[in-house]
Amino acid sequence: GYGRPDSEEDYEQISYEDAMGKTWGKNEKKPYRHAAHAMIYAPDGKILWDMYENKAVILMTMRFDGYIGFPGGIMDDGETLEFWLNRELEEEIGLDLTRHSFTKEDHVLSHVIHKKKLLLHFYCKRVTLEECLEIEKRTIDADEYGFEVLGPIRVPMFTFKDNERGLPIFLSNKFIGNAKEDLLYCIERENIMTKEEIQLALENCEKFKA
Ligand code: GTP
Ligand code: MN
Ligand code: MN
Ligand code: MN
Ligand code: MN
Repeated sequence: GYGRPDSEEDYEQISYEDAMGKTWGKNEKKPYRHAAHAMIYAPDGKILWDMYENKAVILMTMRFDGYIGFPGGIMDDGETLEFWLNRELEEEIGLDLTRHSFTKEDHVLSHVIHKKKLLLHFYCKRVTLEECLEIEKRTIDADEYGFEVLGPIRVPMFTFKDNERGLPIFLSNKFIGNAKEDLLYCIERENIMTKEEIQLALENCEKFKA
């Protein structure tokens, strides 16, 4: 993993199946709640200022609470996680579910915060650059735009020669939950950047922490 998130929460990785088992735990006085969030991205390769290659367009959001996170939210009962995830994506970023909808195959990993009885599920989907730009454009027409979501954010997927500007400075922002870990995990998993490149960006990011 890529270190612990900013918060003091106690995150533990858990399998999808074990996480689902927790919902129905008969002995639980207080049942676990589930939340699901998703990363939508497209490989890019665009050269900026004849110097830096932007490896991918990765969509995140500025949340109402000032934290950066991925779109998604708390799941209700009676339907699958993916049903509620798709519902949240429609509300928060105006995702056209007739064209892009998440299935269990898009699940990447899950975490549990025992103290909060919260299960966090993370999904990732690769789309074409053209599709990604269309998805991004629709975000300002979403129902929750201006409420739960204050706008789309692109992750700078490049680092300047000073080893500061770009991804390292971006990573020194405040992220909700373990969104930063999820982001870095997917950047490596999807072969957008190497483990070494990510590690370097993280080390340089530490220098900008207050
Ligand atoms: P309401 O509609 O107001 O209930 O909000 P929501 O359903 O959209 O919930 P929200 O997106 O705030 O997510 C619920 C909880 O999941 C948050 O309090 C965080 O603890 C966690 N969370 C939010 N965003 C992310 C994220 O991007 N990644 C991860 N891993 N966890 C997140
Ligand atoms: Mn929501
Ligand atoms: Mn949300
Ligand atoms: Mn919600
Ligand atoms: Mn809501």
